[in-house]
Amino acid sequence: MNILHITCSPRGKSAESYLLSQRILARLLEKNPQANIISRDLWADQLPHVDSDYAASLGGTRQFSGEESKTGSLGMSERLIVELESADCIVIGTPMHNFTVPSVLKAWIDHVVRIHRTFNATPEGKVGLLADRPVFIAASSGGHRIGERSRQPDFLEPYLRAILATIGLHRLTFFTVQGTAFGPEPLAGAKLEADQAIAGHFNSARS
Ligand SMILES: Cc1cc2nc3c(=O)[nH]c(=O)nc-3n(C[C@H](O)[C@H](O)[C@H](O)COP(=O)(O)O)c2cc1C
Repeated sequence: MNILHITCSPRGKSAESYLLSQRILARLLEKNPQANIISRDLWADQLPHVDSDYAASLGGTRQFSGEESKTGSLGMSERLIVELESADCIVIGTPMHNFTVPSVLKAWIDHVVRIHRTFNATPEGKVGLLADRPVFIAASSGGHRIGERSRQPDFLEPYLRAILATIGLHRLTFFTVQGTAFGPEPLAGAKLEADQAIAGHFNSARS
């Protein structure tokens, strides 16, 4: 079993989203001790934004030969998609930045959501081409992102649900540590709540 572990916080291994994603990984490893983990730290990698050849290719204004497609953003896109395809399960640790995902995660999305490769456009809308598989999202936010204490729009969860569904990934489960800016005690409570949600999910018969 291959698990693709994607993280994207500028806070690296001390990030709440990273730590929460590690607790999800620990549960997955309990069930699959032999699992192979592929780690992709998008902050450390600093993926470039997509280039003009990529835009021309996706916009349908130019066809690229096989050799040309191995370089630049097209080449990077292909490598990232193959990595994604090789995963039986995906764990994404992400903070909320300005109501949505950090720009480095958006850059990854721009590389893997590619027409004729991971989705097709049909008269009925976009149809994903990847085989569905479980995706666990560990989301952290300084304020409350969801629930009755939320005072901000949440474009993170609806966005990830919509964009990953576009390429065929529908089985998303979110775990949340929110209110990290409110001090150590509320943070400890938020982490406990997240741990209980993780335990509830993985202890249930169906997971
Ligand atoms: C550029 C930037 C934008 C942020 N925007 C938001 C936001 O819109 N809403 C929010 O609740 N927190 C926001 N935060 C706070 C982070 O979500 C919060 O500190 C979170 O716990 C960081 O998670 P991490 O430790 O995984 O990086 C922002 C932080 C940064 C650096």
